[in-house]
Amino acid sequence: MKLQEYFLLPGPTDVPSNVLRSMAQPMINHRGPEFEEMLRTVTAQAKKVFKTEAEVFTLTCSGSGGLEAAVVNFIEPGDKVIVASIGNFGERFRQIAEMYDADVDFIDFGWGNCIDPSVIAEKLKEDSEHKIKAILCQHNETSTAIVNPIKDISAARGDHPALLIVDTVSGLGAAEFDMDGWKVDVAVAGSQKAFMAPPGLAFIAANKRAMEIAESNHNRKFYFDLKKARDMLVSKGQTPFTPAISTVYAVAEALKYFEEVGVDAVVREHCERRDLVRAGLKAMGLTLIADDDIASPAVTAVQCPKNINPDELRKLLREKYNVIIAGGQGKFASTTFRVGHLGAVRTLDLFAALIGLEMALIELGADIPKGKAVIAMEEMLMKK
Ligand SMILES: Cc1ncc(COP(=O)(O)O)c(C=O)c1O
Repeated sequence: MKLQEYFLLPGPTDVPSNVLRSMAQPMINHRGPEFEEMLRTVTAQAKKVFKTEAEVFTLTCSGSGGLEAAVVNFIEPGDKVIVASIGNFGERFRQIAEMYDADVDFIDFGWGNCIDPSVIAEKLKEDSEHKIKAILCQHNETSTAIVNPIKDISAARGDHPALLIVDTVSGLGAAEFDMDGWKVDVAVAGSQKAFMAPPGLAFIAANKRAMEIAESNHNRKFYFDLKKARDMLVSKGQTPFTPAISTVYAVAEALKYFEEVGVDAVVREHCERRDLVRAGLKAMGLTLIADDDIASPAVTAVQCPKNINPDELRKLLREKYNVIIAGGQGKFASTTFRVGHLGAVRTLDLFAALIGLEMALIELGADIPKGKAVIAMEEMLMKK
């Protein structure tokens, strides 16, 4: 028998048992009244998580599909766009935009930093003819575990009309986000992150200004046509194509928790878990990639001690201690590992994971003081 793992990935995340059970319901007609009621409820509740009055479309695809939908509906070949990148998913946004022949100005702020809004402000100021159509960036860059200052990036536009298109796949519900308050035009999220549901759905919120641009967009698209998605949602409470009904059940169940406690409380819980994990890791003497003021509430990226291979570390953790953490990504793959703490994570499971990590690191030769992580974490938790 396989025991349940301490599952600390930055997505997919552990799915609570009530959410899992909700998926065991029989299929319903996605063109019938029950599905309509469920989709309308999920949409209304998702709007509260995004903090938007904009329409939120539920797409059956992973987060990257949502990013592709954002590019194909709001950007045309030859459009000048800024891709502001701080890691792996910034590079993915560049790839998608280039795939659709956008004229990409790729600004690499460096892995380990956050975006500097003044650089964006400067670029836009120089663009007196308003040729730049959009700024694309991550809210939470999962590869480096850093949160970008989306509110300030948005404000840096001044009166420049560029759309702000934000990938908040791993950020929404974990880190503070206020789509309307911050004047974000398009935001993309995914079911397998803070939503506490399995993979399979992306959510894309697009405001009126963005949808007007989508209206005149000439890109060839079939599956990811958001005008079709809007028309079906508004008129019938349906999706244009067969949705992943079981995952919609799951999200509907998980969103009840957001309704119950409110999105701000969910974000606070994520911040508390972030602080706890960071206190424990620092007490072990490990180096974290993100500075405290830009650290992600969803995931923590850690420099693997020299002479230890992060893949070997994760293998030992998995096989001996039943703890699942993530490897590094992109150019951080061979030097970092990541501890996810988003979604339905129980606080004391973080102790178990860090104790396992401590033992595994010591077994692999790291010079780590025994027990300090637990003491630091206990002190933090008991102060609350
Ligand atoms: C910030 C960010 N963007 C996009 C994605 C891509 O999502 P998916 O793997 O669901 O396609 C991820 C996945 O981890 C992510 O963390």
